[in-house]
Amino acid sequence: MNVYDSTRMADVLTPMGYGETTTPDNADLIILNTCHIREKAAEKVYSDLGRLRIIKAKRAAKGEDMMISVAGCVAQAEGKEILRRAPVVDMVFGPGAYHKLPELIKRSHNGARGIVDTDFPIEDKFESLPVPQKKKTLARGKTAFLSVQEGCDKFCTFCVVPYTRGAEYSRPLSQVLEEAHALVDAGVREITLLGQNVNAYHGEDSAGKDASLADLIRTLAKMEGLSRIRYVTSHPRDMTDDLIDAHCDTEKLMPYLHLPVQSGSTRVLQAMNRQHTAESYVRLVERIRAGRPDLAMSSDFIVGFPGETEADFQATLDIVKEIKYAQAYSFKYSPRAGTPAASHEDPVPEEVMVERLKRLQAVLNEQQVAFNKSCIGKTLPVLLDRRGKREGQLVGRSPYLQSVYIQASDEVFGEMVNVEIETGMANSLTGHRVPGPM
Ligand code: 5AD
Ligand code: SF4
Repeated sequence: MNVYDSTRMADVLTPMGYGETTTPDNADLIILNTCHIREKAAEKVYSDLGRLRIIKAKRAAKGEDMMISVAGCVAQAEGKEILRRAPVVDMVFGPGAYHKLPELIKRSHNGARGIVDTDFPIEDKFESLPVPQKKKTLARGKTAFLSVQEGCDKFCTFCVVPYTRGAEYSRPLSQVLEEAHALVDAGVREITLLGQNVNAYHGEDSAGKDASLADLIRTLAKMEGLSRIRYVTSHPRDMTDDLIDAHCDTEKLMPYLHLPVQSGSTRVLQAMNRQHTAESYVRLVERIRAGRPDLAMSSDFIVGFPGETEADFQATLDIVKEIKYAQAYSFKYSPRAGTPAASHEDPVPEEVMVERLKRLQAVLNEQQVAFNKSCIGKTLPVLLDRRGKREGQLVGRSPYLQSVYIQASDEVFGEMVNVEIETGMANSLTGHRVPGPM
């Protein structure tokens, strides 16, 4: 979502005469778009600000100005505290304020010091942001993110999102479709629908009724020129029957599902306020796979949640072995101020967390390699949207979101081609182009 938000900020800044640069040394304006989900991510902001302070001083010595701002969830959570810890910062603004950038920059240029804007209304933001422009979108390639939902009402006891991104909000269907049309007109062939809780999407349709994520996917699937639809990230509680059906009957919806389980222990899931059990999660995946047997599964895991015993952790290993993931993210529990779990009395020692994370990642890596190797000999459609480091190398994603490397003429860059897979490594596949319909 931060990648998407950054592109939308660029959309707002371009008409003001700003352009993108690859190095901070010649930037007039720096925006750190930040993440507050775990301590490590949040602390990174301050070490980056330390480096930027030196660059700003060097530019000042040459008589050049540099405005430094902190955006995103660290800005939302820490507000003024950022200005206190890092006085080099000119502006702090949260995820609800991106559309106000021109006004904030003007105020700063006019001499306002220490601007902080952490107001919410997400609706205002989406209504005020410009529709992506053709030229700029083309430069971004054949795949694009599209934010359809923001915020979260689930209140998992470890998570800051309901506090930093606020209450759940779904963009109206017409607004989402307008943005999707603009992307497709600009040549985008794959759209990933975004939301902290994207499958809770319930945007208002033209008749004033709620459209579900499945309704949105089915509408998008009819859009000519759009070949692939993905969505991320989902909550098991919101995997409704119509969404499960969409996975089984909508060809453009890719057979890949990121469905965080967090833990395989129902006891821990209850303490996390996840509102699902290990068993209900397994049953859910079985139901989708019954209609879409090649569904590749992905998940997030937290190890070392307060009170997690060795038996609880074993249950996590068990669910991983049962589901067989194609890909996953796993983290040590990180206490976040203001969340209920942060005041829990039974922390898991750091060394136990480290050891459990290592054991979990060993199993997950093994499964990822096994999944990638199972693709050898298969022919998969690949949307070639990147150039590789080697001469003549093109890279794209398979339906299962694997990176696939091929040697091919640049003429097929941006195209969907059939690739016969030759090798499967931990993080990528290689293959060669074969003819035939996609
Ligand atoms: N500690 C560790 N991991 C966390 N996540 C969210 N909050 C925390 C936390 N306090 C992880 C969850 C979530 C992913 C985006 O980040 O696994 O699904
Ligand atoms: Fe955080 Fe996801 Fe739980 Fe919402 S559903 S509180 S975003 S972990």
